[in-house]
Order: sequence, then structure tokens, then C-alpha cells
Amino acid sequence: MKIAFYDAKPYDKVWFDALAPGYGFSIRYIEGRLTTENYVLADGCEAVCVFVNDRVSEQVIDLLYSIGVQAVLLRCTGYNNVDFRAAYKKLHIMRVPAYSPYAVAEYSCALLLSVNRKTHRAYSRTRDYNFSINGLMGTDLHGKIAGVVGTGKIGRIMAGILTGFGMEVIAYDPYPPADGSIRMVGLEELWRRSDVISLHCPLTPETTHIINKDSLAMMKNGVILINSSRGALVDTSSLIEAVMSRKVGGVGLDVYEEEDEYFFEDRSNDILEDEELVRLMSFPNVLVTSHQAFFTAEAMEAIARTTLQNLDLLRKNEFLENEICYRCGKEGICGRETKRENCF
Ligand code: NAI
Repeated sequence: MKIAFYDAKPYDKVWFDALAPGYGFSIRYIEGRLTTENYVLADGCEAVCVFVNDRVSEQVIDLLYSIGVQAVLLRCTGYNNVDFRAAYKKLHIMRVPAYSPYAVAEYSCALLLSVNRKTHRAYSRTRDYNFSINGLMGTDLHGKIAGVVGTGKIGRIMAGILTGFGMEVIAYDPYPPADGSIRMVGLEELWRRSDVISLHCPLTPETTHIINKDSLAMMKNGVILINSSRGALVDTSSLIEAVMSRKVGGVGLDVYEEEDEYFFEDRSNDILEDEELVRLMSFPNVLVTSHQAFFTAEAMEAIARTTLQNLDLLRKNEFLENEICYRCGKEGICGRETKRENCF
């Protein structure tokens, strides 16, 4: 089988090239993102492989279907960029449900530690032989309260790490872990009590702009906010206002609402037109990184392996463990959980 691999970067090729021959798959790497113009580059391929910022819209789905593509392989966990309703009964959509939740939780923690102790600024200073520590004071995390939103795979690991720092962890999730290992609270209590808030929930209609003017108003002065989940969980203009008013004391963002245009690309020679992004990055207490929380060697290998296994299951006409369709998500009426039946 052939895979058209969109938005390919050199680091993607390392593991896919190493593992694909073992499955007998060949890969056509395409630098650009999947669009209605370049879908045709997948002609002759049974699957397309895409990443977080490829928009798999209804139009793209119909075009891929018309040239005989059978599957979309998401080499990521989140799937808010796919129109599932349009794909139903046309294309199998498979994802990588977990590769290294440790990678993302550890990185979220790195953001928190940097923002709090300002190591990113200290690094620039000492490189310039400026050894002053003025303005670099942080706070002890020990004894403070951390609010974790979303206690799935990543959120639970994050809660464990923060507990290790001696923080009191409280969390919100509409489907809390059954083992009672984390103290769950209502969302409003989480906003009001937390010194640090870290987001680990998916992007859904309910969670879009979960950080907004109202939730920010409830937060403690000086709260530190970490988002390594999806950009649109945060209403950027409200966040900018909250930083300007000193309500928010520090922000670590690995994702950004309008990241499609910029993240993963070298735009250092361009004039950036996104004023909110530029404004955010102008604050000394805001650290923005380019969606790299997942990026460890272990995670990259696991992503390649699961992505290829997903297609292998389709080839063998077996149960598609990692398929996701709009009925699974919304109505839960596919026979997946109970009968291990494919969605269609
Ligand atoms: P998961 O599916 O294991 O956990 C998500 C949790 O969020 C679930 O427990 C779910 O019940 C909860 N949730 C759903 N709706 C919620 C709501 N309204 N409020 C609070 N919680 C809610 O997912 P996992 O693996 O922990 O990943 C979490 C998110 O992290 C993904 O959705 C993805 O967007 C993001 N991610 C970011 C990466 C990066 O490189 N920056 C890499 C991997 C994932």
C-alpha cells in the first residue's frame, strides 16, 4: 500500500523510513499541507497521513474519496481538524491515541518551571554576559495549589509530577478517573483556588475558549497558566488583557489559536502579521513554543509505529482499534467497545 504523507518534515522521515519497509508500505512525502489543490498528489495512494494543522474538511474528504483513498492516518492524538460527519462511510479516520503522554506532561512542566523561574530569560542574559538576576524572582511551587483541567492520560501524569513538587492538586473533568486518585472539584472552584492552571482537555465545542474573560476574572491574581493542549481553549484577546492588567502572572503556551499559519515553519525572515501573537510574545512573562510538547524520540517512534499499524489493520480487514467516527464520539452507538466491530 502507498501512503501520501502531507506536511512532511525531516524529523518525520527518520522513523517512518525506518519502519515502513517492514510493513511493505511505500511513502510519498509531500512538503505542503493537505489542501483542495494538492489532494491530487495522493492519486494512487490508499491512505493519506496528516498532522495537527492539515484541515481535513468535507471538500478535501470528497476529493480524496474520488481518487480512491481509503483512509486518513492522523499522526497525532487530537482530531479537531477532521470533519468526521463528512468522512463517515467514505474514509476511515485513524489516530494515534497515545504515544508518550509523559512527553507532553513533562514538557508542560518544563514550561511551568521556565515561566515561574524565568530560565528562558536567564539563558539570554548570561549568553550576553549579563549576570544580573534582577527581575528573575519566582515563587516556590511547593505548598501551592495546581488546577488540572482534563484528567486523561496526560493530565493524570501532570498531576503526579506536580504532586511530586509538593503542590496540592485539584482537577476538573466531566469524566473523572474512577480510582479517586485526584481530588476533583467544580470548574469554578478550580479557577478561584489555583495558583497554577494547566490545560489537558481536548478541543470540543464545550471547551473552546474555556479560558475567557469570565474564567480569568475568577482566577487568583498572579496565576500561572499553562496550555499544551489546543490553542483555541484560550481566548487570546482576553488572555492579553489579563496579562496587561497583571491578573495573570505568567503564561506558558505550546499551542496558539491561530497557530496554523506559523507553527512548525521557519518564519524568521517574514514580517509577522498576527498582531496578537506578536503582542503575546512581547510580554516578558509569556513563553510561547511551537507545538513541541510531543517531540521526544520515544514519542516519534511510537507515532510512526501506531500510524503504520493502523493501516496494516485496514489492509488485513481487521478491527480498527484506533478508528474514530462521529458516531463513536457523539452518539457512542458504534459496536466498538462491546463487539469490537468497525464503525463501517
Ligand atoms: P485523553 O483523551 O486521555 O484525556 C482528555 C481528558 O479530557 C479526558 O479525561 C476527558 O474526559 C477530558 N475532558 C473532556 N471534556 C472536558 C471538559 N469539558 N473539561 C475538562 N476535561 C474534559 O487525552 P490526552 O492524551 O490526555 O491528551 C489531552 C490533549 O492534549 C489532547 O486532546 C490534545 O489536544 C493535547 N495534546 C497536545 C500535544 C502537544 O504536542 N502539544 C500532544 C498530544 C496531545
